[in-house]
Amino acid sequence: MRLFSLFLLTATLSFATHFVPSKVCSKCHPAIYKEYMGSMHRNSSVANDPVHKAVWDKHPLKAKQKYNCAVCHTPTDTKLIEAFKKGQPALPQSNRIQRNEPIGCATCHRIRSVRTHVKQNENIYNDRPKYYYAAKGGKTVKETVKFHEESGFFGLFKKAKGSPFHTIDYSNRLFADGYTCLGCHDHKRNKQGLAICSMDRKEAEPSTQTNCITCHMPQVSGSLSTITETKTHAYHGFAGLHVRPDLLAKHIVLSIDTSKGKLHVTVKNQADHRLFSHPLRLAQLRVEIERQDKTVTLPPVNLFTVLGKNGRPAMPWVADTILKQNGIGAKESRTFAFDFMPQKKDRITVTLGYYIVNPKAARKLGIKEQAIKEFKVLKSKIFPY
Ligand code: HEC
Ligand code: HEC
Ligand code: HEC
Ligand code: HEC
Ligand code: HEC
Repeated sequence: MRLFSLFLLTATLSFATHFVPSKVCSKCHPAIYKEYMGSMHRNSSVANDPVHKAVWDKHPLKAKQKYNCAVCHTPTDTKLIEAFKKGQPALPQSNRIQRNEPIGCATCHRIRSVRTHVKQNENIYNDRPKYYYAAKGGKTVKETVKFHEESGFFGLFKKAKGSPFHTIDYSNRLFADGYTCLGCHDHKRNKQGLAICSMDRKEAEPSTQTNCITCHMPQVSGSLSTITETKTHAYHGFAGLHVRPDLLAKHIVLSIDTSKGKLHVTVKNQADHRLFSHPLRLAQLRVEIERQDKTVTLPPVNLFTVLGKNGRPAMPWVADTILKQNGIGAKESRTFAFDFMPQKKDRITVTLGYYIVNPKAARKLGIKEQAIKEFKVLKSKIFPY
């Protein structure tokens, strides 16, 4: 009897640890696959992300061979996660999963629920390799579709319904309200209990109108599959600071006011999380004035986070306090005063942009990639005066 249940247990375990390779999905979902291949979920591993690699290379857990980043950065590599859990050496190798799909298609679509914890949240996956959750037109409905053919008019024609490869379950609300993202994206505390990363979300009722999915995976043109034709599909490049920031610009509103004898610039953040929440970022609000043929550049406002210990900046694994954090909060509108008063016919350009890695930190980490080091624009607006 005991032997039998042990067998059952290992059987479910090995099922649970198999994710269908994303390449398989590409046959019927080519547009989504192509976008995904350029996304940060495809590039979240040490093999593909030079920023992640640079930080990991300095991390004390590397010498101990304990890659505890795996549950969020490479959850598809279940062999690595199992080794880690068993206390065996667990370092990421440059294998197919690490290079092609550290956070794969099936991995995300099998997240059944998200368990909340103080240190970091946890994804609970279903144990069926070909059973995927989705929303139906952005909504949750009590419906599970297996592939079948529906006969019409006395069996004269047949119509295929669903996917010939997998079951689709439309009843998991996480895929409509965006909570499926929060197993990895909510917060992370270090050993000292300091939240080194936190979205500082404005807790609201789960919404299907505006959420992580509607902002970061907006509908873009192209069919969701080659079999069921649709005009649009959810963008799988996941708009962010590395990929297509232009898709996010509309959620930031810039305005100016000079009624108090000085230039005031207001930034309105419509996201339900703090802007530029990752502690490596440096965001800047820049103002430039064109007057006749001269350009005046005002000193920029810096927005950033500094983690520290004993009053000095420290690495995230050492830090026990937040020395400074002035990023714009969830749903916050913040006004910045500049020591300047425009004149008639001036053209004022206001830009909210960012460095993916604060240039000071980039030097310390030895990051050389130009795309990481350069200033990027999130939103820019010209105000004729
Ligand atoms: C709880 C989940 C979680 C764990 C565990 C985790 N990360 Fe992350 N990490 C994230 C998420 C989510 C992002 C993306 C955040 C963003 O862009 O704001 C991220 C982003 C990063 C970035 C920025 C990458 C870039 O290209 O901008 C670095 C560096 C990083 N993580 C390093 C690590 C290291 C090193 C570990 C392990 C020691 C680790 N993380 C463990 C969730 C996690
Ligand atoms: C980071 C998690 C994540 C990854 C990785 C991911 N998806 Fe999705 N996918 C979602 C979410 C969330 C939605 C939107 C809700 C929905 O329609 O199910 C979605 C939607 C879809 C849809 C329906 C599109 C629509 O417009 O209705 C298909 C098909 C799909 N994904 C296939 C894939 C394939 C194929 C891959 C890999 C190439 C993939 N997904 C990778 C989370 C993910
Ligand atoms: C043989 C073709 C085929 C393969 C392979 C395939 N799919 Fe699909 N999939 C479909 C079809 C067809 C639909 C649309 C079904 C419908 O709308 O009734 C679909 C729908 C989906 C949906 C739900 C979309 C929605 O909103 O209705 C998701 C999620 C999804 N597939 C994920 C995947 C993932 C992940 C993989 C790879 C592990 C994969 N598919 C492989 C044919 C396929
Ligand atoms: C299994 C963990 C996991 C899940 C689930 C997940 N993410 Fe991520 N996501 C990450 C990690 C890790 C990174 C950082 C990768 C890096 O920079 O190395 C990331 C990066 C991102 C980025 C930054 C992209 C850029 O260009 O800077 C966005 C945006 C994002 N995720 C949105 C989402 C959304 C929306 C969902 C839910 C549909 C989601 N993620 C689900 C782990 C996850
Ligand atoms: C109203 C639109 C909106 C909603 C809703 C929203 N975001 Fe964002 N998100 C943005 C904008 C705009 C940015 C770009 C500025 C920034 O980096 O914070 C962004 C940036 C991000 C980044 C990159 C941050 C960094 O420092 O690298 C991640 C990761 C992210 N969002 C994940 C999420 C997740 C997860 C949710 C759901 C809890 C979510 N977003 C909800 C608009 C939104």
